[in-house]
Amino acid sequence: MTFSPALEARFEKFLAKYPADRKRSALIPMLIYAQDEVGSITDELIQELARRTGTTPMQVTEVVGFYSMLQRKPMGKYHVQICTNISCLLRGGDELWEQACKKTGLGHKQVAADGSFSLEEVECMGACSWAPAMQVNYDFYHGVTPKQLDVLLDSLAAGKKPEEIAEVKKVSC
Ligand code: FES
Repeated sequence: MTFSPALEARFEKFLAKYPADRKRSALIPMLIYAQDEVGSITDELIQELARRTGTTPMQVTEVVGFYSMLQRKPMGKYHVQICTNISCLLRGGDELWEQACKKTGLGHKQVAADGSFSLEEVECMGACSWAPAMQVNYDFYHGVTPKQLDVLLDSLAAGKKPEEIAEVKKVSC
C-alpha cells in the first residue's frame, strides 16, 4: 500500500521514537493520520499498519474498534459528533443530539447521500467543562444550543469556513 510522501515521513518519525519491539506504540497516531489520507480504516490499511508496527491485523482491528475516532467506512465531509454522556446530558446534550438528527435526517454513524454530513453520538470527548460539547472534524464547539447547531450546520453547508461562523464558540485542537 502506498501513501503520500508527507504521510510516509510522519510514519517514519513516529516509528523512530520506539525501539524495534515497541513499534506498536506508534499505531494510534499512524491510524489517525492514515485515516485522514485514505478516508477510512480499510482492510488493506489494517494489514499494512499491522506489518509496519509488528502487530497482527486482529490486534489493529481491536484498537480500531475501541476508539470512536477511527472509522471503518468513510464519513461525511463534515463529521458531526455530539456527546450525550453525563455532563453533556445534564446540560442539554440529548436535545442537541435530537436536533442534529432532525436537522440532518441522519442517525448514529449515518452519512448523507451526498457525503456532506455524517452524524455520530459519542461518549465523553474530554470537553465536559464545555458541556454540551460537540465536534465537527477537528474543531470542538462548546455550550452549544439547538439553535446554534442549526446555524453551524447551515453555515457549513453554505460553504462557510468554521472560523467564519461567529455564532458558535469554537476551540481548535
Ligand atoms: S460528558 Fe460530554 S464531553 Fe465529557
